[in-house]
Amino acid sequence: MDKLSIQGGVRLAGETAISGAKNAALPLLCAALLTREPVTFSNVPRLNDIDTLLRLIAQMGVKVTRDGSTVTLDAAQLDNPLAPYEMVKTMRASILVLGPLVARCGEARVSLPGGCAIGARPVDQHIKGLQAMGAEIAVEHGYVHAVSRRLKGARLFTDMVTVTGTENLMMAACLADGETVIENAAREPEVADLAHCLIAMGADISGVGTDVIHIRGVERLHGATYRIMPDRIETGTYLCAIAASGGEGVLTGTVASTLDAVIEKLRDSGCDIVCSPDSIRIKAPARLNAVNVRTAPYPAFPTDMQAQFMALNAVAQGTAVIRETIFENRFMHAVELQRLGADIGIDGNTAVVKGVAQLQGATVMATDLRASASLVIAGLVAEGETVIERIYHLDRGYERLEDKLAALGAKVTRVA
Ligand code: EPZ
Repeated sequence: MDKLSIQGGVRLAGETAISGAKNAALPLLCAALLTREPVTFSNVPRLNDIDTLLRLIAQMGVKVTRDGSTVTLDAAQLDNPLAPYEMVKTMRASILVLGPLVARCGEARVSLPGGCAIGARPVDQHIKGLQAMGAEIAVEHGYVHAVSRRLKGARLFTDMVTVTGTENLMMAACLADGETVIENAAREPEVADLAHCLIAMGADISGVGTDVIHIRGVERLHGATYRIMPDRIETGTYLCAIAASGGEGVLTGTVASTLDAVIEKLRDSGCDIVCSPDSIRIKAPARLNAVNVRTAPYPAFPTDMQAQFMALNAVAQGTAVIRETIFENRFMHAVELQRLGADIGIDGNTAVVKGVAQLQGATVMATDLRASASLVIAGLVAEGETVIERIYHLDRGYERLEDKLAALGAKVTRVA
């Protein structure tokens, strides 16, 4: 299994480019199942999760063509509305094929994704919403089996804000008979990106970006060409890396408007940040001030940036309180950061991080995507070498990580 070796203590400086958003690309690729006509996406990130989803979609009878970061999906011959366990277990976002398959084919058999390191992550809201739209759903032998000759528009209310739940139900509602209203909808920018693509495909959607989305069903959707939004979490991750190292740098091909909460926290920690229409420049002080973090649904501070801020606070001046309100087990990185010398106390969903002057390099293990990113940030600022094992977690969500870090002056090498 590949490892990452990092020589710490380098103040990052330079410029690197941000890729398309993983969490926008995954639902967008599934949206192509809704039409018989080809849909072309540009700015598709080259990530293991994307490869997995494209393999899953191809085995359904969809023609997949890829040219660099451009992907075209042609679902005219879609004839196998099945997402098997062997493929779903490696990438839980595969659940996003459920809504499109029921809407397009009238039937879907999708393996339950199961939990993951950060939590149980049930899909009960996805199922409840489809049932409210008239789907007959049986959950048996580890599969969700949904059948509906044609879904009917309905008024839906999710018990909690769910990003992929909102996305699944919005896609299903595009071809339903009548109007669907999704209340308590997720407002994440990736949900808006999906809505904009669906509208380009002929869907009738209003309320995009708000917590009440109206979808008036249409008979069919048509093909489209769509550019995927930049990855705001990748952007935030590199901002944290530069900030923690006391460096300065420019991230290109990204937008600041989807990261207000993160940029505000970095400014509170002492960073000078200048935002342009398609780039962000950051200059960090020699040592950051500790900043408190409380995760919550967009536009509040994103849970996907919590681990990165724990690493940043581990070397900041002062004590930070971090509260994780979205997932029940998203502090797995804390014990690994402690191996590097971090002073972190965990009590339920609250972490108290006392900044130390210096972390010490060590061998640590990645447990999930964003936890791995926090170990990279810590390794960049630790004294000596840090070796991160099981970095396949990183490859799921960060395109060409070592190249992009090297462009910022980091001493990082991948060790087979
Ligand atoms: C999406 O996951 C993201 N993944 C996650 O990013 C992100 O952390 C999460 O949203 C929160 O922002 C993708 O977009 C592919 P949720 P999702 O449904 O949709 C509970 C990353 O690192 N819930 O918004 O699965 C759930 O257990 C990944 O890129 C139910 O109980 O998250 C959680 O506690 C990690 N029942 C909370 O709601 C449901 O039916 C929010 O989950 C659905 C969700």
